[in-house]
Amino acid sequence: MADSHPFVAVVTGASSGIGEATARRLSREPGARLVLVARRRDRLELLADQLGGATVVAVDLTDPDAPQAVLEAVGRAHGGELHLLVNNAGARWAGTFADSGWDNVERHMKINFEAPLRLTETLLPMLRATAAQRRHPVSIVNVSSTSGRVARGSAGGYSAAKFALAGWSDSLAAEERPHGVHVGLVLPGFISTEGFPQAELVANPLLRRIVSRPEVVAEAIVDCGLTGKVERYAPRGYWLAAAARILAPGLVRRAISGDTLTPATGSDQRD
Ligand SMILES: NC(=O)c1ccc[n+]([C@@H]2O[C@H](COP(=O)([O-])OP(=O)(O)OC[C@H]3O[C@@H](n4cnc5c(N)ncnc54)[C@H](OP(=O)(O)O)[C@@H]3O)[C@@H](O)[C@H]2O)c1
Repeated sequence: MADSHPFVAVVTGASSGIGEATARRLSREPGARLVLVARRRDRLELLADQLGGATVVAVDLTDPDAPQAVLEAVGRAHGGELHLLVNNAGARWAGTFADSGWDNVERHMKINFEAPLRLTETLLPMLRATAAQRRHPVSIVNVSSTSGRVARGSAGGYSAAKFALAGWSDSLAAEERPHGVHVGLVLPGFISTEGFPQAELVANPLLRRIVSRPEVVAEAIVDCGLTGKVERYAPRGYWLAAAARILAPGLVRRAISGDTLTPATGSDQRD
């Protein structure tokens, strides 16, 4: 980014994994001023120190007051300028629908769908106002998942929330384009992180190569957030899974039903 006028970015889920890698990557942009959001204050403060300073907002994003807390923090620290919102915080809990029911779907919807929408709703006037200044591009990047295009067993609630996030992102992009706010969508594949260790895949010598790193997703988020890319799978090759789901749904469904990766990749998720 050429202009060194402050460039303000809110990153949710910055206390680990993809969000932390995104904060580290964004901190290298000229003029970057970061607002780090997650529940674990100690992790956010440590990261802020390592980055040479950042605003920390330690909140549970499913708390109804959380969006206002983020809004006020951006207002206090940056006078109400906001160029990039990365809706990255998310979680997954494995369980079939028969065993875990609506309760498990609902908790997925709360953190993976409702929370990013409520935060966006609260920050949108600020994003639009910043876009009107025309100093930097202004963007929202929503982190969905390849599971937001292809659903596997024992992950119905997670996929439902990530499908919903992807659909809503397209609609929001159309609505916000006239207001100068770009909306990008990032769909990670298997990425080894604290909450999604992918332990079973990593332990399998044949399959560990399909597991990637949070830094790869951070680059995709930067592509969508700073250079106007509309949509990125990360790593890029995961688009094949989404294309196969459209072109050969029966084949994909059979492959997934016999998929040895399916249930256990979720069993190592934090609860
Ligand atoms: N890793 C993968 O394979 C993969 C694949 C596709 C999509 N994704 C998506 O990528 C995003 C990041 O995941 P990750 O792999 O980096 O996992 P991660 O290391 O577990 O990070 C999740 C982040 O979300 C935050 N978070 C979770 N619940 C929260 C809540 N209620 N309020 C505030 N913050 C909350 C966590 O912070 P605190 O615990 O401190 O609150 C943490 O910073 C998620 O949306 C995930 O669905 C990941």
